[in-house]
Amino acid sequence: MKLLHVDASPKGANSGSRALSRFFVDRLRAQIPALSVDYLDLAQEILPPITEQFASATYTPVEERTAEMREALAVSDALCARLLAADALLFAMPMHNWTMPAAFKAFVDTIVRGGLTYIATGDGRFVGTLGGKKTLFLTTRGVDLRPGTPFAAMDVLTPALRAAFGFIGVADPVFVDAQPMQFANEVERAAAMRRAKTELSALAEGWGAAEPRDALPKAS
Ligand SMILES: Cc1cc2nc3c(=O)[nH]c(=O)nc-3n(C[C@H](O)[C@H](O)[C@H](O)COP(=O)(O)O)c2cc1C
Repeated sequence: MKLLHVDASPKGANSGSRALSRFFVDRLRAQIPALSVDYLDLAQEILPPITEQFASATYTPVEERTAEMREALAVSDALCARLLAADALLFAMPMHNWTMPAAFKAFVDTIVRGGLTYIATGDGRFVGTLGGKKTLFLTTRGVDLRPGTPFAAMDVLTPALRAAFGFIGVADPVFVDAQPMQFANEVERAAAMRRAKTELSALAEGWGAAEPRDALPKAS
C-alpha cells in the first residue's frame, strides 16, 4: 500500500493532529510492513492562494496553454500526480474557525483540477478520478462538536471536506474527530485522545485486513 500522508497543523511538535496522524501511520505499518508513505507537510510546503494566472490556466485546454500557464500549474500538476499515485489518503488537520485551516484550503484549491482529479464528461457530468482510494480525515477540534452538543451545528468542516473530495471521487471517507482537545478539562481532553486512538487502531486493523495477503507479515 502506498499512503499519501498530509499534515496541515501550524503547531509543529505541539500539534495534536500531527501526533494522532503519526500514531495512525505507526499502527498501519504494524499491520502492513510493506507500507510506503509519501509525506506532505503543508506547514513547510506553503501553497500560495490561487492567482489570476492559475485561474485562467486551469480552464484553458491543455494544448492551448502557454509556457507561463504551464509554469503556473506546475506545483498543482505535481501534487495531483502524488494523489493519483497513492492507494490510500490520510489528511490530518485542526479545525480553524469551524472549517479547514487555510493551509489545507489552499491544498484543496490546488488539487481539484479538471482533466486530472476530475473529468468533465461534456454532457454536464463530472467524474472524480480518486475513486477506490481508502481515505481518512483526521481532525482535531478545541471544543466538542459531537451530535447533541451545543456546538454541533457549527461543524462546517465535515461537510466541506465531504463536498470537495466527493467531487474528485472520494466517495466513502472515514472521519476520526478528536474533540474536545483544547477548551475542556484535562480528563475530557485525555478521553478525547483515547477515543480517537481507539478509532484509529481499529481503522488501521481494517485497512490491514483488506490488504492482499502477500503484503502482510508471514505467519510463523
Ligand atoms: C486560528 C485557530 C482557530 C481555531 N478555531 C477553532 C474552532 O472554530 N473550533 C474549535 O473547536 N477549535 C478551534 N481551534 C482550536 C483547535 O482546533 C484545537 O486546539 C486543535 O486541537 C488544534 O489541533 P493541532 O494541535 O493539530 O493544531 C482553533 C485554533 C486556532 C489556532
